Amino acid sequence: VSGESRRADAASYRLAMRRIAASVAVITTAHEGRIHGMTATAMTSVSLDPPTLLVVVNRAARTHPIIARSRRFAVNVLALGQESIARRFAEGVERQFEGVPHEMHAAEVPIIAGTAATFVCIATEAIDVATHTIFIGEVEEARHADLAPLLYHDGRYLSLS
Ligand SMILES: Cc1cc2nc3c(=O)[nH]c(=O)nc-3n(C[C@H](O)[C@H](O)[C@H](O)COP(=O)(O)O)c2cc1C
Repeated sequence: VSGESRRADAASYRLAMRRIAASVAVITTAHEGRIHGMTATAMTSVSLDPPTLLVVVNRAARTHPIIARSRRFAVNVLALGQESIARRFAEGVERQFEGVPHEMHAAEVPIIAGTAATFVCIATEAIDVATHTIFIGEVEEARHADLAPLLYHDGRYLSLS
């Protein structure tokens, strides 16, 4: 498919994208003892059988090479009240997990506590598109809690109500 013929300008694309309301997750990963996480809204379900999802990660993100090497990641869908965690994992801070309650999953990825849902994944495919990589994750374990989700819309964190 050629993308050459017509192309929206970046500003109008960004403005239109801001109209999309999304759940906020932290994608966590680890490699050789180093744990890491990144705030993300680009995630979606792909299939139920086998349970498969995708996340989209900028190749410039520190998270990228860690998933690429370990092939392990978890999607931690944040609950309302976890906005400070969303901000923390979007800011490029050092010692990211300091003060963030978490545990190590048996699959050797960190899991953030108190989230609305958690998906522990093995990356089965990595597809490079433009500046980003789509990581396809086969879900080894899915957990959920009856908590309201944290949403992101028009550059702001919001609740459903
Ligand atoms: C609400 C929100 C959603 C984001 N979604 C994504 C995303 O889906 N994919 C991505 O690559 N970066 C996304 N980012 C940007 C990363 O969180 C940010 O670049 C982060 O600093 C990368 O961390 P790292 O370099 O430690 O991996 C998002 C940021 C915010 C605030």
